[in-house]
Amino acid sequence: MNISLKSSRLPGWHRHSAAIRGRKVSDWLGAGKGTQLDSLWAGGLSIRAAERLVENVVGIFGLPFSVAPNFIVNGRELLVPMVIEEPSVVAAAANAARIARFGGGFQVSASEPVMICQVQLFANDLEKARIQVEENEAELLSVAAASDKTLLRFGGGPLSLEVRTITNDQGQAEFLVLHLHVCVVDAMGANSVNSMGEALVPHLEKITAGKVGLRILTNLADQRLVTARVSLPVSSLAMRDYVAEEVSAGIVSASRFAELDPYRATTHNKGIMNGVDAVLLATGNDWRAVEAGAHAFAAQAGTYRPLCTWELDRQDLLRGQLRMPMAVGIVGGATQVHPSARLALDIMGVKKANELACIAAAVGMANNLAALRALATEGIQKGHMRLHERSRDLIADSKKID
Ligand code: MEV
Repeated sequence: MNISLKSSRLPGWHRHSAAIRGRKVSDWLGAGKGTQLDSLWAGGLSIRAAERLVENVVGIFGLPFSVAPNFIVNGRELLVPMVIEEPSVVAAAANAARIARFGGGFQVSASEPVMICQVQLFANDLEKARIQVEENEAELLSVAAASDKTLLRFGGGPLSLEVRTITNDQGQAEFLVLHLHVCVVDAMGANSVNSMGEALVPHLEKITAGKVGLRILTNLADQRLVTARVSLPVSSLAMRDYVAEEVSAGIVSASRFAELDPYRATTHNKGIMNGVDAVLLATGNDWRAVEAGAHAFAAQAGTYRPLCTWELDRQDLLRGQLRMPMAVGIVGGATQVHPSARLALDIMGVKKANELACIAAAVGMANNLAALRALATEGIQKGHMRLHERSRDLIADSKKID
């Protein structure tokens, strides 16, 4: 294995000991940075750091910090840190990333990092209040901007205001909701946009003579989307007793099943979130926020849909596309306080939140490909059970030690 060439293709990676893998990741990180890996062996988080994160701490809860090799995202070779308790997910991601290399890896684009703050507004005359808000948009935007000067310094800030009228089941207007669109640059953005929403209250109430209700971001971050694509030669999909054409047809059929049946789409998307969440956990991101956004987005057309679909092109290419909201940050919160989260970002060489969003999407797509490939052939239990056996052995070992 020649890691100095900076190829992330690492055959036999899973057969090394954790110590050897750790050393290779240190080499990957380069001079001086490798020592940071030591903190992982000590659990990755001190009690002091834990107490800076949350309240009432009495200890630290450990989870495995793994590294999936083989990824190419937008032409860049990547080792991807994944934190997860479920067996097979890391192996599946690495295996699908290996296959994706036959198609040049994953191509992923991210929209501008725009989050939405919702501000609920009650007024006697909703139509009049709507016009008043629209006429005062510029002033409201500057009030919002003034509440987070740091964000402005980093090139972000409020962009626009949209006013929605919310109606009840009888079609009557009940209240207005203002959507404040904010570019949050490299943050997840919750704190910035919530502060902006709260800063708007006095002005809004004065302009409209109304009453503000809730002001909070929406996790349906549909202005902050990632789109991942991969094109694989069908020939790369052969597997044990299964010929390539059979495997690719099985993947397309499984994708169709998810498109037509929300029960299946839910599990299909769960498999995607296995990969996405593992990257988000490793980088200290709010995976619940991304989960909530993903599922709401999947249901936005009125029925629950798969976030990733697969189709055959000219019989010799399997094309996949994943599209979903991805509200992630590389500054603020645990991304900075948790040493392992910083290390995870270093391992990926991530410098922008959008780069992280693209990688998380690629890993989600890899996990979907791996799951469908297994389900369309031998089923997932074979691989799953092999790894479960291993954890049973570990439990037996730990009992012996006790
Ligand atoms: C298990 O964690 C995930 C899968 O169920 C996903 C899927 O069915 O597509 C294997």
